[in-house]
Amino acid sequence: MRVVKRRALRSRVRREMRRSRSEFTNKAASTIKFGEGFAKKIIKTGVAKRAKVLALQGELGAGKTTFIKGFARGLGIKGKVLSPTFILIKKFAIRNPQFFNFYHIDCYRLKNPKDLLDLGFKKIIAVPQNIVAVEWAARVKSILPRKIIRIKFKTIDKNKREIIISK
Ligand SMILES: Nc1ncnc2c1ncn2[C@@H]1O[C@H](COP(=O)(O)OP(=O)(O)OP(=O)(O)O)[C@@H](O)[C@H]1O
Ligand SMILES: [Mg+2]
Repeated sequence: MRVVKRRALRSRVRREMRRSRSEFTNKAASTIKFGEGFAKKIIKTGVAKRAKVLALQGELGAGKTTFIKGFARGLGIKGKVLSPTFILIKKFAIRNPQFFNFYHIDCYRLKNPKDLLDLGFKKIIAVPQNIVAVEWAARVKSILPRKIIRIKFKTIDKNKREIIISK
């Protein structure tokens, strides 16, 4: 029985490894560049059945907002991406004829996932032409769609970060 369990675990780990990729950056500007390139890739995949939802995780200062700055740039957004300290949701128009809006959501100060539902989260993610990035996504895990792009940020040292993307 134990052997079977171990085998199942090993194949799950292998599957995860295949589906995830990791990138190291050694300065904030590189994380911005990486985010920009990633947005361009996302745009290329075209509009699907549902909104594209990026779930970002990682401790304070790990680089989530920095990545989103580049990501927004890659979507052709001119507006400034800030750490939305008091604002929970910020909306930007995507400069691409196929897509509508980009939503930057920061759940750090969120008390309850319901508060995000009250702000129309379900409606936002129901629109296939929207792209949504959620910081501190684990705080709203219960209301996230099944299909998300997970992006994990790890602080290696002062200027080095690991960014792990899995679907
Ligand atoms: N390789 C790197 N990638 C990203 N940011 C870096 C890197 N090296 C240093 N930094 C610095 O780390 C900080 C990252 O801050 P950022 O606001 O992006 O983090 P965050 O994960 O959004 O934090 P929070 O949870 O507070 O929202 C910035 O000050 C940035 O300049
Ligand atoms: Mg942030």
